[in-house]
Amino acid sequence: MSVEVRNITKRFGNFTALENINMLVPDGDLVALLGPSGSGKTTLLRIIAGLESFEPVDGADILFKGTSVVGNRIAERRVGFVFQHYALFRHHTVYGNIAFGLKVRHGKNRMPRKEIRERVMNLIHLVQLDGLESRYPDQLSGGQRQRVALARALAIEPRFLLLDEPFGALDARVRQNLRRWLRRMHDEIKLTSIFVTHDQEEALELADRVVVMNKGHVEQEGTPTEVFHNPKNAFVMDFLGNVNLFHGRIESGRILFDQTEIVTNDNNQTRFFVRPHEIELLPENIDNAGLPAKISRVQLAGSIAKIELTDNNNKEIFVEMSHDKYSVYKFQNGDSVFVLPKNSIVFPEDYSI
Ligand SMILES: Nc1ncnc2c1ncn2[C@@H]1O[C@H](COP(=O)(O)OP(=O)(O)O)[C@@H](O)[C@H]1O
Ligand SMILES: [Mg+2]
Repeated sequence: MSVEVRNITKRFGNFTALENINMLVPDGDLVALLGPSGSGKTTLLRIIAGLESFEPVDGADILFKGTSVVGNRIAERRVGFVFQHYALFRHHTVYGNIAFGLKVRHGKNRMPRKEIRERVMNLIHLVQLDGLESRYPDQLSGGQRQRVALARALAIEPRFLLLDEPFGALDARVRQNLRRWLRRMHDEIKLTSIFVTHDQEEALELADRVVVMNKGHVEQEGTPTEVFHNPKNAFVMDFLGNVNLFHGRIESGRILFDQTEIVTNDNNQTRFFVRPHEIELLPENIDNAGLPAKISRVQLAGSIAKIELTDNNNKEIFVEMSHDKYSVYKFQNGDSVFVLPKNSIVFPEDYSI
């Protein structure tokens, strides 16, 4: 089921937490809401779920499958919600936690025990907790508890799923595994989902589409490839991965670095944003085109070589390259090299990183 957010503004007193947010989550997609802490992600999720009100300005609306749900009761929205801190019931088993939302149903919605059992056991299998149905939450690892929380959210057969930093409290390795697991599960059940995270790697790896938020605004929306390779502004480029900033000017089609780093009012001066993997390091200054710098750290433990440098003004520069590429010159700490950006993006507006 598609989810649409139109003209949503939210104020807490005179603080504006969300300003005129528009967003469309296509049916069956997994969309990541990505932004720094305080950018309004949780507030937006709560508004979609119906847990929070919004400013009743013209055109403000929340639509499920094209129909406004404003005014509907929360239960009618049938939203599955998973939070960062697994709010499992401590005195219920895995089975009891997942079955909870089904057992409390009354009247015409009441489900026969056998059907509940069948659905819960299917969910336990889906989240790969077979054999653990009689355990209590404190007998489970963090990752297992979050999978119980997910199964519990899915038990009510929600029309879509909201996940608010569900893996935020887990360690890096468990996070990575759960992320892949969630992606595979999503491919299987194709339930429209909104996943909140402040971790760019998580968002890029997991989502069909990414909505980048900052200070209550949507900065950019697109596929992971689009937002990473064609960032709309310096904030998005910086937030989606490390970035180096150089000052210089373009003359006859090539970059001349301002090695003094003095920011002038010169209109020809430009700021170039360059990703760490789009920089070449050379031992000599061919055509005088490189920026002189000194290697300050070489980090080879990992799938790529990470090299830190400082230029003549003590500004740090970050470079990443394959081990194959690194083995050509095998630069070491203290080596003097020349930095050559292979690809840079210029943003007109002011932004400091
Ligand atoms: N109930 C509230 N009262 C006042 N301010 C709030 C309330 N909830 C959130 N905020 C503020 O709104 C901003 C966005 O919060 P939130 O949506 O939780 O951000 P995120 O989830 O992106 O970290 C923050 O500055 C936060 O302090
Ligand atoms: Mg939050």
